[in-house]
Amino acid sequence: MGIKKESILVMDFGGQYTQLIARRVRECNVYCEIGSYKMTAGEIKEKGYMGVIFTGGPNSAFDDNGPKCDPDLFKLGIPVLGICYGAQLMAATLGGKVVSIQDTREYGKTEIEVNPSSLMFHNAQAKNICWMSHTDRIEEVPHGFKVTAISKDCPIAAMEDITKNFFGVQFHPEVSHTVEGQLYLKNFLYNACGCTANWRMDSFVADTIKSLKEKIGDKKVLCALSGGVDSSVAALLVHKAVGKQLTCIFVDHGLLRKDEGDNVEKVFREQFDMNLIRVNAGERFLTRLAGVSEPEEKRKIIGEEFIRVFEEESGKLGKIEYLCQGTIYPDVVESGAGESAVIKSHHNVGGLPEDIGFEGIIEPLRDLFKDEVRKAGLELGIPEFLVNRQPFPGPGLAIRIMGEVTQEKLDILSEADAIVREEISALGDECRSDQYFAVLTGVRSVGVMGDGRTYDHTIAVRAVTTSDFMTADWARIPYDTLERISNRIVNEVKNINRVVYDITSKPPATIEWE
Ligand code: XMP
Repeated sequence: MGIKKESILVMDFGGQYTQLIARRVRECNVYCEIGSYKMTAGEIKEKGYMGVIFTGGPNSAFDDNGPKCDPDLFKLGIPVLGICYGAQLMAATLGGKVVSIQDTREYGKTEIEVNPSSLMFHNAQAKNICWMSHTDRIEEVPHGFKVTAISKDCPIAAMEDITKNFFGVQFHPEVSHTVEGQLYLKNFLYNACGCTANWRMDSFVADTIKSLKEKIGDKKVLCALSGGVDSSVAALLVHKAVGKQLTCIFVDHGLLRKDEGDNVEKVFREQFDMNLIRVNAGERFLTRLAGVSEPEEKRKIIGEEFIRVFEEESGKLGKIEYLCQGTIYPDVVESGAGESAVIKSHHNVGGLPEDIGFEGIIEPLRDLFKDEVRKAGLELGIPEFLVNRQPFPGPGLAIRIMGEVTQEKLDILSEADAIVREEISALGDECRSDQYFAVLTGVRSVGVMGDGRTYDHTIAVRAVTTSDFMTADWARIPYDTLERISNRIVNEVKNINRVVYDITSKPPATIEWE
């Protein structure tokens, strides 16, 4: 795509903020890709990157086994910005000196003093706060470099060689605690690399539709639509490109939230006039789930049954050349990363195996981060309630019902969940919560209603704040709201006599209960 001509490489040295750096670069309207530190100078040159950013990393720059870059990349004439470990590596590779400072290590918010006449700190405040986290530091800059920032414990907090366009910062400009971090990044991207901020969602949408049209030609495309933001935006891009050559299959597994299936159908059928097949397969899924209470087993069954239903329906449609999927950039990056322990076998409804008999896969969102997908969705006119939806797991309410899933339990949970969502979303800015829902705990307890004894179900309310869903804290929902939720659930939903609030962070708990 034409607009990708201006591209930055974020070279990953194993730092925890790699994806955040890439998102920040994109927020400056500059396209970037994450690549391994093992990329050679030749590969970097061939890709035509306009600049390279070295991320931080857990190693020491003088550790022989630590990740190193190809030293020849410094001969390419491309601007390089090293962050934290990346800056130390740059210093060590180009002839400077890096030392360990175990005794006075800096961590957290730190005041720095910058030289505003440097390129990196052009138009910046002379004194400001930044985020430091390091146990090594640069002791001597390489030949040709000047020191451009200092802090109390770090005499070389930033350095630059303006003739070669090499820059190093000991702190993390990508972290929000670094007050002017975005300005520093812009100075590097615009003033050193010469990027023109041409990565914008309106041009992404227009360009993608154009290239999809060319790629698909007069062939047919199939998409599994779940109503989630990724599959919705992917499908709509294809629909705008080739109209009715796209068929979407929406497998309603009966495990969706209240009214969700109808709302999704309405938007895509009525607003966008898409070729949509809705398969109401709720009974089929429940039959397969009967008697099953083990969480992984439930997930497996739902994943398999989903593929079966999808294959059956697509088989009725005759030859279709392409399959469209809502894969996004973090999926691409993460699947390339190392092995991590499998806590839960996450699956996306729509996450179909690639060998199900298509000529090719179309993944229009492969380059986008989630917030960019949302922007593209709004650009395409998808209603806000779909674009800004909180995450909803592929296996749906089945993994929010502890134990066996039955229609009766689904009815109870979807009613209680609708109340939780209505009350918490009404809080707006008063209380941030990134994901909130009800769980049917599988616990029954004794209560008293009117003059009678009850022995009924317990609903747990789960609400968390998080930035990446990898870690999360429980949301401090105001007591008044919790009270209203509890009263409404007990009064409005049959067979519930107790409501509890989950006050566990992740870790040690996970966000979902199964
Ligand atoms: P956990 O429970 O692992 O969830 O803390 C982290 C985030 O992932 C969502 N989640 C899923 N999403 N398919 C999905 O698409 C799944 O199978 C799945 N399981 C959990 C969960 O809602 C939370 O946002």
